[in-house]
Amino acid sequence: AEIMKGQYDHFMQKEIYEQPESVVNTMRGRVNFDTRQVLLGGLKAYLPVIRRGRRLLFVACGTSYHSCIAVRGVFEELTDIPVAVELASDFLDRRTPVFRDDVAIFVSQSGETADTILAMRYCLERGALCLGVVNTVGSTLSRETHAGIHINAGPEIGVASTKAYTSQYVALVMMAVQLSDDSIIKTARRQQIIDGLHDIPAQIRKVLAMDKALQEMAKTMLAKEKSLLIMGRGYQYATCLEGALKIKEVSYMHSEGILAGELKHGPLALVDEHLPVIFIMTRDSLYPKVQSALAQVTARKGRPIIICNEDDETVSDAAKCIRVPQTVDCLQGLINVIPLQLLSYHLAIMNGVDVDFPRNLAKSVTTE
Ligand code: G6P
Repeated sequence: AEIMKGQYDHFMQKEIYEQPESVVNTMRGRVNFDTRQVLLGGLKAYLPVIRRGRRLLFVACGTSYHSCIAVRGVFEELTDIPVAVELASDFLDRRTPVFRDDVAIFVSQSGETADTILAMRYCLERGALCLGVVNTVGSTLSRETHAGIHINAGPEIGVASTKAYTSQYVALVMMAVQLSDDSIIKTARRQQIIDGLHDIPAQIRKVLAMDKALQEMAKTMLAKEKSLLIMGRGYQYATCLEGALKIKEVSYMHSEGILAGELKHGPLALVDEHLPVIFIMTRDSLYPKVQSALAQVTARKGRPIIICNEDDETVSDAAKCIRVPQTVDCLQGLINVIPLQLLSYHLAIMNGVDVDFPRNLAKSVTTE
């Protein structure tokens, strides 16, 4: 059946707005919110092998790579297995050492990205257990891996990935939770995450309701700028990278995601009274460190826009803020990425870009 835009002007907009439902579809039949358990059927038989693995090796490109960065911390915390996250092209360029006791996880919306497929075949040849986390059923990646998870986000048409990102993120968090369910000491943390997942759809809906204000912000604060930095750390580093990628892809504005811990090692030189900087400063254990990065930028007359939690009174009213609901630290990126998706969409429209088909880009890159 033909996929229609319905009430929306563009597929990208429709897919952004679908996220309260698409993340539910990713969890459907897999998360039991009463018993607080996760069951990913496709992985069940492989759990003992994965738990014995020497390393979890995530390999992906583009937005899918960012979803791997987003969940790296929660895998480390819940599984105690060393984690590596690799860009497929660079992984292949380096001819990275891979062993039989490695667990390689290939994340891809299309399941057809050439670099990711080649990296998978490279790992298969070396005897690693290969898992696929894909959206497209029947794709090359889902056929050639040993096992995996379909993220069930539904077809994504817009070249810039939006709902696939949040569904990959949710699917990977579910995988980390399931992998750790043999660990009694981690029970409370797992339950906290599952309770958090339960509320994510309603919280995303709340952020979507801020769309008009975000459109206005894009118009008055960003549309005429040449460049935009997006800064954060810890769990939010992935959000910075993904937000900056969205802005580049569809608005053609230069944007860079910056780890706040690296500010002093270079990016601070860019800061002046003109450059807009978005700070992702939702509450978690690294909050004070992001606050101090913000202070350094304001001291240099920078122009911060702050993504913070709804009830954060330490952020002054004078500052430009985007206030979002709070969730568990490792899930907060699911909420924080939404305003950045919306900002990039509005910037694209204001710049006259055909958002669903930005110049020079393809939805699926099937050549090396
Ligand atoms: C292309 C698309 C991106 C996507 C990347 C990886 O560059 O334009 O939106 O993130 O490929 O695609 P995949 O299908 O492997 O997730």
